[in-house]
Amino acid sequence: MASQETVEQAPEQAFVYAEPRVVTELEECYFYHSMEIPGYGLVEGPWDLRGGVDDYLGGVDLNGKRVLEVGTASGFLCYTMEGRGADVVAYDLSDEQSWDVVPYAQYDHASFDSDRREHLRKLNNSWWLGHGAFESSAKVVYGTVYEIPEEIGRVQVATYGNVLRHFRDPFLALERGLRLTTETAIVTENPSLRYSLPQMAASLLKPNMAFLPNHERMQPRESWWHFTPAVIKQMLGVLGFEDTKVNYHVQRFAGKRKPLFTVVGRRTVPLSD
Ligand SMILES: C[S@@+](CC[C@H](N)C(=O)[O-])C[C@H]1O[C@@H](n2cnc3c(N)ncnc32)[C@H](O)[C@@H]1O
Repeated sequence: MASQETVEQAPEQAFVYAEPRVVTELEECYFYHSMEIPGYGLVEGPWDLRGGVDDYLGGVDLNGKRVLEVGTASGFLCYTMEGRGADVVAYDLSDEQSWDVVPYAQYDHASFDSDRREHLRKLNNSWWLGHGAFESSAKVVYGTVYEIPEEIGRVQVATYGNVLRHFRDPFLALERGLRLTTETAIVTENPSLRYSLPQMAASLLKPNMAFLPNHERMQPRESWWHFTPAVIKQMLGVLGFEDTKVNYHVQRFAGKRKPLFTVVGRRTVPLSD
């Protein structure tokens, strides 16, 4: 596991990291990922990425890399990347922030937000339970994706695993993390043809995104966008990651096979000092 190096190298930056939390009880947790946890065995969550990590992360070698993981959830990818030699700074919402909920006018937004915060506390707890059990050195910063603090410092790699669709402003979300990223952006998306088939069917290869919220169904509540790989490539290009490649893969969600894609962007326009 990675060492305390980051804090030692940059003590003035340490204040952005969350205070460590001791969590040992599974009942206090919500697991988003299925994961084998030392001392606990297999805990089950809706997404089972075991066996699919290389595809999910676009085959990028993370050994020796400092990685910003946007939207770590239960930390399956965080601890897996750490096991592969990465020094991970995880990032997520906590119960002090609001999810980017779709503000349907017809809907009791306040009570949904308060339920989400309770859920986030349990989600964060699952990360901390894993942190103790894996004896992880990863750090976590809590906040909305739009306020990723510069004090985290430079990272070589940023991952956006299945998060962009949840952000009202996905381009700003990319910009905020990639302004710290010197080498590689990894963006994995879960395309949502269910809500957007008519809009998207004819243009799967074009740089398109579709607006998912439908006021008649009042669904979805927590997702905003369907993206094609081409539009992700275009966004990455604007942010200086012009050298991109796409891979398509299948992962397991709630016991079913789900098609996803990953865009890996390599920085071609260096960050200024
Ligand atoms: C669908 S999960 C993805 C988990 C993980 N990255 C993966 O690929 O398996 C979305 C994650 O993004 C976080 N998230 C959602 N909205 C956010 C926001 N506005 N700012 C920061 N994180 C957010 C959620 O709390 C959750 O951990």
